[in-house]
Amino acid sequence: MKISLFEVEQWEREKFDDLSGENDISYFKEPLTAENAGEFSDTEIISTFIHSDLDKTTIEKLPDLKMIATRSTGFDHIALDECNEKGVVVCNVPRYGDNTVAEHVFGLLLTISHNLRDAIDRTRKGDFSQEGLQGFDLKGKTIGVIGTGDIGEYVIRIAGGFGMKVLAYDVKPREELAQELGFEYRDNIKDVISGAEIITLHVPANDKTKNMISREEFDAMKDDTILINTSRGSVVNPKDMIEALASGKLKAAGLDVLPEEPVIREEAELLHSAFKEEHDMETLLADHILLRLRNVIVTPHSAFNTCEAVIRILDTTKENIDAFIEGSPENVVNEINKSPVGG
Ligand code: NAI
Repeated sequence: MKISLFEVEQWEREKFDDLSGENDISYFKEPLTAENAGEFSDTEIISTFIHSDLDKTTIEKLPDLKMIATRSTGFDHIALDECNEKGVVVCNVPRYGDNTVAEHVFGLLLTISHNLRDAIDRTRKGDFSQEGLQGFDLKGKTIGVIGTGDIGEYVIRIAGGFGMKVLAYDVKPREELAQELGFEYRDNIKDVISGAEIITLHVPANDKTKNMISREEFDAMKDDTILINTSRGSVVNPKDMIEALASGKLKAAGLDVLPEEPVIREEAELLHSAFKEEHDMETLLADHILLRLRNVIVTPHSAFNTCEAVIRILDTTKENIDAFIEGSPENVVNEINKSPVGG
């Protein structure tokens, strides 16, 4: 098989040395994009992280493509309809970082609750005063968990260790888990939002979750709520979030993800991309405002990025590619309309 792996570091490459069968494997540090896709027109299997453009235009430029192995849980960056139509099997890494992302959630939350950013900035300047540094305890607070899948579950487990109460919302509630871990579901998302001091989001990005947290949900919040988002940027309406921060509904936000994130990753790209129709100028502007607010902390989609989690991602991706080559694909996330072209 002709296999191309994108966004791979040198040390990650040896993981793929002993893939099943006879293969011609190429590695690239850069992402796959609509612009460079033409150079890989004979590739049959691709593996990327989330910064490659796996949109319709790119996939159309890969006529021999049979499989995409994304090295992520989320697959909202892939044009699944196009893959379904062309019989391209798409596989993800469903469980690699439940604890990893959940630990990052509490990293963001503790940074806010203990004013860690200001405290650290201050001591670096030789200033050891306490002025303005008073934070708040997590113990006794209620955390609202939206999405109680693998990551949400781990967040609930950790919240228990802090002595927090948990309210949860999910389209598929797991009542047995609620009994085991001692938390409560609410049938309506607003009942969770209005009953919590801290809200954390763990739903996938799709049409149903787009702007799931918008003006109405912000209005339902208590004053001074803390919002943590490590899911995907599209789940929160950024303009409404800025208004909520201004009105005091939100005291602070900890964000590992932003809408239009791939574009704002490169500041220099802003001017260039702002003129492309597919990017929403208002959303880009909102992102840039959020990046500069003192009560918003942003990490660069790094919640997954621990040594242990990355090794788990690479191991599962190799197993996904092997399983496809051997004819029994695993962790398939799409429903193809015709038989796969091979493998
Ligand atoms: P999961 O699939 O185990 O759980 C998602 C949960 O959301 C499920 O329980 C599902 O029923 C629920 N859900 C789906 N649609 C919903 C809706 N409309 N309303 C309420 N609940 C809904 O996924 P997992 O592993 O917990 O990951 C969640 C998301 O976290 C991923 O889809 C991905 O976007 C993001 N993620 C972010 C990472 C980062 O580095 N920031 C790393 C890994 C995942």
